[in-house]
Amino acid sequence: LLQPVILSGGSGTRLWPLSREKHPKQLLSLFNDETMLQATASRVRTFHGEVAVSDKLIVVCNEEYRFITAEQLQTVGFNNCTLLLEPIGRNTAPAVTLAALSALEKNEDSVLLIMPADHNIADTAKFHQAVATGLPQAINGAMVTFGIVPNHPNTGYGYIQVGDKLANSEAVELRTFVEKPSAAVAQTYLDSGNYVWNSGIFMMRASVWLKAIQHFNPAMFSACKSSVENANIDIDFVRIHKDHFSACPSDSIDYAVMEKLASAPQLNISACVVPFDAGWSDVGAWDAVWEVSDKDGDGNSLRGDVIVEDSRNCLLVSDSRLVACLGLDDVIVVETPDAVLVTNKANTSNIKRVITRLKDQN
Ligand code: GDD
Ligand code: MG
Repeated sequence: LLQPVILSGGSGTRLWPLSREKHPKQLLSLFNDETMLQATASRVRTFHGEVAVSDKLIVVCNEEYRFITAEQLQTVGFNNCTLLLEPIGRNTAPAVTLAALSALEKNEDSVLLIMPADHNIADTAKFHQAVATGLPQAINGAMVTFGIVPNHPNTGYGYIQVGDKLANSEAVELRTFVEKPSAAVAQTYLDSGNYVWNSGIFMMRASVWLKAIQHFNPAMFSACKSSVENANIDIDFVRIHKDHFSACPSDSIDYAVMEKLASAPQLNISACVVPFDAGWSDVGAWDAVWEVSDKDGDGNSLRGDVIVEDSRNCLLVSDSRLVACLGLDDVIVVETPDAVLVTNKANTSNIKRVITRLKDQN
């Protein structure tokens, strides 16, 4: 049985001022009426072919967002999800460990399909196809990743060196995994032609993940284990124990396990990459929102109460007031009741500089 797990813990400040600490990116509807969390859940509602998928999603999120998360999922028809509520963020490796322990508690060594809640995937059929390709590998005990052909030396991604094609499969061997390399190193990977980006979607048996984390970070494993064992269960809300979870080290899937796998052949865990060409975007900044959105004949993407004249390739988002844009190219305007962002598309990844200044002021 395929067990979908949604990681919904990020704060996504790069979409400021629409995403805030109180309103992270995955809970926003950026492209249509569905929020990114809802779209992620809807994407696994039905699978074609032989893939049997659990309709009880596991969603790992911060305790603070439990009601809005449950409500958003109910609205799209997921009435009985297991919500694992983290009292504090400890990054993605503990979140997956909690999910794996929770799945195994039901005596099911299911294959977990780990999905970030804040990604956009244009082609659901191709996504399903990729999952179906990876599934037999995961069933056989492999760590399955989904690789994107890179087109620039992005330093925010994991890079996977691909090896030989596996027998009777579209998947290829995973040679090495390097998380967030420097720009210079990323460029050499790009030039070599042997590397793909890690999409951040993973698939593996619950037991395989736990074996890996127990080996690479025993403190994380035991903190998560006692956090789950001492959780307070309130119907579908599983409140992870605060004191036990506070003792858990913080680390990501990528650093804690994926980078280290090759150094531990004694674990006997193989890893592979499924080529992933389904219009994936992690919507990391406003230029990516423009990229993914529907646009008019002039390349403008318009949301809310906006007027545009003699402008091209702009993204205009109005939340509360009329926004008029005249004679501009490649500009992004995001209006909210208490803050307005005006920037050039080329600068959207530098938004951290604004956030840092805001934090300094407070
Ligand atoms: N539940 C929970 N708890 N979820 C979390 C936490 C946490 O503490 N921290 C992050 N998440 C969720 C985020 O909401 C996001 O959906 C996902 O986990 C990935 O976390 P990011 O913080 O966005 O990771 P990243 O973008 O830096 O890097 C990952 O994704 C890249 C592709 O977008 C890595 O897997 C990279 O290798 C990959 O290339
Ligand atoms: Mg991300």
